[in-house]
Amino acid sequence: MREGFLTLGIESSCDETSAAVIKDGKEVLSNVIASQIDLHRKFGGVVPEIASRKHVELINPVIEDALEEAGVDYKDLSLIAVTYGPGLVGGLLVGIAAAKAIAYAHDIPLVGVNHIEGHIYSNFISHPEIKPPLVCLTVSGGHTDLLYFEELGAYEVLGRTKDDAAGEAFDKVARVMEVGYPGGPAIDKLAKEGDSQAIDLPRPLIYDDNYDFSFSGLKTAVLNYINQKKQKGEEIPKADLAASFQQAVIDVLTAKVVKAAQDKKVKRVLLSGGVSANSHLRRELEEKLDELEIKLYYPQPRLCTDNAAMIGTAGYFKYQLTGEIAPYSLNANPNLKLG
Ligand code: KG4
Ligand code: ZN
Repeated sequence: MREGFLTLGIESSCDETSAAVIKDGKEVLSNVIASQIDLHRKFGGVVPEIASRKHVELINPVIEDALEEAGVDYKDLSLIAVTYGPGLVGGLLVGIAAAKAIAYAHDIPLVGVNHIEGHIYSNFISHPEIKPPLVCLTVSGGHTDLLYFEELGAYEVLGRTKDDAAGEAFDKVARVMEVGYPGGPAIDKLAKEGDSQAIDLPRPLIYDDNYDFSFSGLKTAVLNYINQKKQKGEEIPKADLAASFQQAVIDVLTAKVVKAAQDKKVKRVLLSGGVSANSHLRRELEEKLDELEIKLYYPQPRLCTDNAAMIGTAGYFKYQLTGEIAPYSLNANPNLKLG
């Protein structure tokens, strides 16, 4: 029997089936992630129906592996934390059904976790010393949310994207450039060989006096550029285009985060979500915030993209802060929002 408060985290909102065991909210005993990336590659994006079927196949073995790796039995668990939104409904339902079954069979409390809150809490695993007040940018394939929180669990949404998420723009641009899947890491890598000033692209909403984002116009500008090149029979300078596109996204994200940090007078900023793995974004934001003596935190690479460790940690904090337990009627909420 293992000592401590043990949370089983379960995540299945998109194309990763994941289970993790977390001790006392911050120590990761296991974090098993079965990625479906290879399965969806030939379609150039996640196919929801295929994803749900794969989650059904993988959920039990992944949970068993997570428990075994942690050296934990079901009866040792103190809490089950599961993502209940936002995400793909079919995938969410698989994780929720598994979580409910375990909670019911072993009489363990269940908490429903917002996936975006999970991304935020991934930072608390990598940096347990973090304390609010904080500004947090969550940038992933599905979300671009700029948040402020004065205390844990109480979020003020400062702004979010009006159309595409930043990661979605990376993925779509990479698809038309035919440089690989998923698009974010492919563009990140290619951009290292290119000139970020080579191609003039728009920076939507950068000077607007708000914290909102918009990436669909930028994506269209890249598509138009590619079409014009093709029509003229000219070669597409892929590395320069990747670097210029990435720079445009980073300029907008950085400008808004710096503005929020200054307006809210915080000393700490969190970056989270899949796009927070972007090496250039981390460096630029860190440099800009450093000049203002504001510290930037981001999770270790494995905790940036979807994983159940972040869900376990977020669930642990939710339970400790609110004592809120989810009923067995807990349902998937594909459009769940924070705040
Ligand atoms: O958080 P995540 O795993 O899933 C969602 O909740 O959406 O994020 C996945 C997104 C994808 O759009 C992927 O292209 C992007 O994160 N991503 C990156 C990088 N690594 C992953 N974007 C830019 N640079 C990266 N290095
Ligand atoms: Zn995510």
